[in-house]
Amino acid sequence: MTSKMSDYYSSNHDTKIAVFAGKGGLGKTTCSAALSSWLAKKGRRALCFSTDPQASLSDIFEKDIFGKGRQELQESLYVMEIDADKRIAIFQEEIRQKIKDMYGIDEIPREIDEYITAAAAEPAMHESATYDAMAGLLASQEFDFYVFDMPPFGHGIRMVSMARILDMWIDKMEETRRMAQEYGDSAYRIQQKGAASGQDEMLNELQEIRKKLGFFQDLLTDSKRTAFYMVIVPEKMAILDTRRALDMFAQMDITLTGVVVNQVYPRELLKRDDLGDFLRERIEMQQKYLVQIEKELGNYVCAVIPMFDREPKGLKMIAEVGDIMMNWDGKITED
Ligand SMILES: Nc1ncnc2c1ncn2[C@@H]1O[C@H](COP(=O)(O)OP(=O)(O)OP(=O)(O)O)[C@@H](O)[C@H]1O
Ligand SMILES: [Mg+2]
Repeated sequence: MTSKMSDYYSSNHDTKIAVFAGKGGLGKTTCSAALSSWLAKKGRRALCFSTDPQASLSDIFEKDIFGKGRQELQESLYVMEIDADKRIAIFQEEIRQKIKDMYGIDEIPREIDEYITAAAAEPAMHESATYDAMAGLLASQEFDFYVFDMPPFGHGIRMVSMARILDMWIDKMEETRRMAQEYGDSAYRIQQKGAASGQDEMLNELQEIRKKLGFFQDLLTDSKRTAFYMVIVPEKMAILDTRRALDMFAQMDITLTGVVVNQVYPRELLKRDDLGDFLRERIEMQQKYLVQIEKELGNYVCAVIPMFDREPKGLKMIAEVGDIMMNWDGKITED
């Protein structure tokens, strides 16, 4: 049975994190901002966190916060937009320094440097920098609630599967290490001393990353602590995507807390004589998909947000969206 989002937050006090996932451009950032604003109004120190290089929280809250650390927008409402690229650049520099120290060289060989540069372009690096920042924030326990505004789907929740891949990788390295010790030929080891200590460093590094990812895996799959939402719109592709996502979540042991249906044209508009065919068609199309959503995802829907006549922006309007999202009347369709 569906219930409104505000009820969920009045009864689930252990929930400290909310994540909005979904395809690009449907309203993840808007919903993240709206929930943060609502929670802050209820007196909870809420942090809305994003890693979007497009600085969309800056845009929504109409304040330049990108790469500027955490900012208090109003009482209890904090926002932070990290500059992941900058973090990656710093991280790259650290790796270069480590390699130099490890092997006692002043100059990184060209091929290795190229490898480091290429690795930085990997989406996984971006994610790793993101999780790093997120883990740091969570560990600080400075806030009562964290809303993580995710990048578009596919990237946002790979951390769970990444943790598993890293597990295998670390196991493999540890096994190799054990075997080297068991069958170890000391002459070989003396020769390879530098390389071996390099491998140790690498293993430590991997274990560190694994720890961080494991921390997220535990959090994201703990439905008591984390509320996991999907944002959709009443369109065919969005419904198909949600079905696929539900399968994927099930495989990752993630429980979906709710589905937010966004950008729904008010049905009352159909009563207007001056509506025009174009808008009428669109509204009727949405109504058709809302029926399908009710049938297929009805149990998950926790909010329906109307399409506004402008982009929701600024503290006042975001607070209004928050009230609408949290206090849905429970109806997906009219009847
Ligand atoms: N209910 C709504 N009514 C009108 N405009 C909306 C509504 N919800 C979102 N928008 C607008 O749609 C655009 C996309 O919304 P938003 O940035 O929240 O989506 P997103 O899922 O975070 O996108 P991305 O995947 O690019 O991060 C924005 O311009 C936003 O202002
Ligand atoms: Mg966004």
